[in-house]
Parts: sequence; structure tokens; C-alpha cells
Amino acid sequence: MDTRLADLRKSYERAELDEQASLADPIKQFELWLQHALDAQLAEPNAMTVATVGADGRPSTRVVLIKGCDERGIVWYTNYNSRKGRELAGNPFAALQFHWVELERVVRIEGRVEKVSDQESDAYFASRPLDSRLGAWASPQSEVISGRAVLVANAAKAGVRFGLNPPRPPHWGGYRLVPDGWEFWQGRKSRLHDRLRYRLQDAAWVRERLAP
Ligand SMILES: Cc1cc2nc3c(=O)[nH]c(=O)nc-3n(C[C@H](O)[C@H](O)[C@H](O)COP(=O)(O)O)c2cc1C
Repeated sequence: MDTRLADLRKSYERAELDEQASLADPIKQFELWLQHALDAQLAEPNAMTVATVGADGRPSTRVVLIKGCDERGIVWYTNYNSRKGRELAGNPFAALQFHWVELERVVRIEGRVEKVSDQESDAYFASRPLDSRLGAWASPQSEVISGRAVLVANAAKAGVRFGLNPPRPPHWGGYRLVPDGWEFWQGRKSRLHDRLRYRLQDAAWVRERLAP
């Protein structure tokens, strides 16, 4: 490898985040930053990393797409039998992370995870394109398969079985992380970054600055 990794560094100078300018409600601050990421037309501004912990205490991460966000929490959809699904069944706590590289921003969110209601999952599933709906039937997510042909054959079988109206598979649906901690990170010059943490105390959000 030619590139000297040890020499790669960048000065963050685009913006700042302070106690006065940030919003008292972290979900509102998050919605504001997500809107900035959408307005900036970043590649996949809705992609977030989800960290879960297995029964053996080992963490694992993967990228998913945020599909909803309101005062109840942050929603994404997946296969409940996947590794993340199995880990959440055993330990319902997770951490989320957005990294909006071009905006020099990170948001970290922690909390307890619950399944969304069947009605909510059904409504979102019905809004997906047909190939995605059939794909949910075709892929035993995170299981070992003998080759790609398995997926193609499963999708074809699902197409024959369900036609244009596949129902939501019972193993597929949404999770909602109910936040009890947030951190908003804005890169600054000289590594003196801005970090604001929000934590719940007596049902109210306390905002604190963390050292970078
Ligand atoms: C940009 C991007 C978006 C993704 N969105 C989802 C998603 O919304 N749901 C999902 O189950 N997997 C999604 N994936 C695939 C996951 O990263 C992962 O491969 C899969 O969920 C299996 O993870 P697990 O074995 O850790 O459960 C996405 C991958 C990328 C790169």
C-alpha cells in the first residue's frame, strides 16, 4: 500500500455547535442535522450504523437505513432472524451512529430497542417496491447459503406463490430505538471539536459539553 495512512489527516472547519445554538430537545436537533444532510445531497444521508451485543458480550455492527424518526424514537426495518435480530432478542439495547463526512458531523444515539407494531411494519412493507417485498421472502438474512442461485430461486418461488401482493413475512419488520442518550459531534479546528451530549435526568434532557 503506497498511501501513508499515518500521514492522512484533515482539519475540520465547516461549522460549530454550541450550547446556545443547539436545541433543547435532541430529536429536534437530530431532525435539523438530518435535514442539513438531505439538503446537502450527501450520498446515503439516511444510512446509519447499528451496534448490538451478542450473548457472548461481543459487539457487532452493520449499516441500515433510517425509516422513521419522531419523539418515540428511531425506526429501521430488517429480518428479525438476522444476527442483529437474534442479538436484540437477547439484549434489547443498541447504539446508532450517523457519520455525515462532508458536514464533519457525527450523531451517536443509545437506548432500548423494541419492535414496532405489526400495523406499522405492514404499512411500511406495503410501500416497498415489489422486488424488495419478494426479496424479504427470498433471503434468510445472515444464514449460510450454498450460492447466489438460492436467492434467485427463492425470489422466483415467492413471485409464483404471491404474485403482485406478497404479504409481510412474519420474520420481517421494524425496530424502534427509544433514545436515552445522544451525542452531537461537530469537527473543529486543531482537534478542539464540539461535542454536546444529552442524557435523561428525571424525564428531562440535560445537555452537557464533552471534551473532544
Ligand atoms: C447503505 C446500506 C443500507 C442498508 N440498509 C439495510 C436495512 O435497512 N435493513 C437491513 O436489514 N439491512 C440493510 N443493509 C445490509 C446490512 O448492512 C447487513 O448486511 C444486514 O442487515 C445483515 O446484518 P446482520 O447479519 O448483522 O444482522 C444495508 C447495507 C447498506 C450498505
